[in-house]
Amino acid sequence: MESSAKPANSSDECNGKCDSCSTSNECNDQKKQEQSLKLRLNKIKFKIAVMSGKGGVGKSTVTANLAMALAMNGHKGKVGVLDADIHGPCIPKMLGLKGQNLKGGPDGLISPVSSNLGVKVASVDFMLPNDDAPVIWRGPLKMQLIRQFLSDIAWGALDFLFIDLPPGTGDEPLSVVQLIPDLDGVVIVTMPSEVSEAVVKKSVSFAKQAKVPIIGIVENMSGFVCPDCGAKIDIFKAGAGKRIARDPSVPFLGSIPIDPQVCTNSDNGLPFTVENPSSPSAIAFKAVVQEIEQFSKNSPKREAGQ
Ligand SMILES: Nc1ncnc2c1ncn2[C@@H]1O[C@H](COP(=O)(O)OP(=O)(O)OP(=O)(O)O)[C@@H](O)[C@H]1O
Ligand SMILES: [Mg+2]
Ligand SMILES: [Zn+2]
Repeated sequence: MESSAKPANSSDECNGKCDSCSTSNECNDQKKQEQSLKLRLNKIKFKIAVMSGKGGVGKSTVTANLAMALAMNGHKGKVGVLDADIHGPCIPKMLGLKGQNLKGGPDGLISPVSSNLGVKVASVDFMLPNDDAPVIWRGPLKMQLIRQFLSDIAWGALDFLFIDLPPGTGDEPLSVVQLIPDLDGVVIVTMPSEVSEAVVKKSVSFAKQAKVPIIGIVENMSGFVCPDCGAKIDIFKAGAGKRIARDPSVPFLGSIPIDPQVCTNSDNGLPFTVENPSSPSAIAFKAVVQEIEQFSKNSPKREAGQ
């Protein structure tokens, strides 16, 4: 893995006795931030990243709907979403939070923005002066921001924190696995096509190399059910999810069909699963949510009552 994206304050680089420590407060500040990060992460039961080698397959849609569905399902006020897509943040728009800001409190902590059902969100989008403003940053700066989202945001006690990653296996996923050593797992999203399959397999390899458990794979945009006659049309072919899941370390979590309402609801900041509970896509989505709940119930953390 690329070493340039390693945290500047990782413990093997500073033991409190380096030149910088004796001449400045920089290392002390870094240590404080590291302690703060540990403190905050300890209060979050399950930390789950949503990733894909391929762009535009529905990672953010899956993240936003998972968060809302779990909040609705007994975890109200106990779900957070960290939007780790620094260049293309979508979560605020999808959860109806456009135009809101992160606000600092007297304790130096920053309050996340709260969506319906108390879903707490942190995103670079809340910090941008306008919609068209780009973030033109390289790896180390992006890692610093993700670190601050984890250490300086008052997440509080959460059952689930979902981390919405940008496509690929670059800076942001690497930062997340380095900053959250006890990441519980990744949900990997693919489209049904062979093109998607080929690239998404790289995410599987990434998770294995990073020694992060793979909760499973979701095949999104998996066919379209005609609202007139009920026929299923495989617009992007079929089967990539199941083929990737032939690998015994990759459970298959489900297939979510295309539904224009998914897109319309996202654009309007409404959670699709909440708005259209009886559509085939929402039902498929709920099956994925159940798999995530099952994963958390089977976790040793649950048994230990952490
Ligand atoms: N099952 C679906 N049916 C219809 N539209 C969908 C579905 N899933 C996602 N979409 C739409 O496809 C578009 C891309 O989805 P999304 O932004 O979630 O992808 P992404 O993988 O997060 O993209 P990126 O790689 O840019 O982060 C969005 O407009 C979303 O509303
Ligand atoms: Mg996205
Ligand atoms: Zn038809």
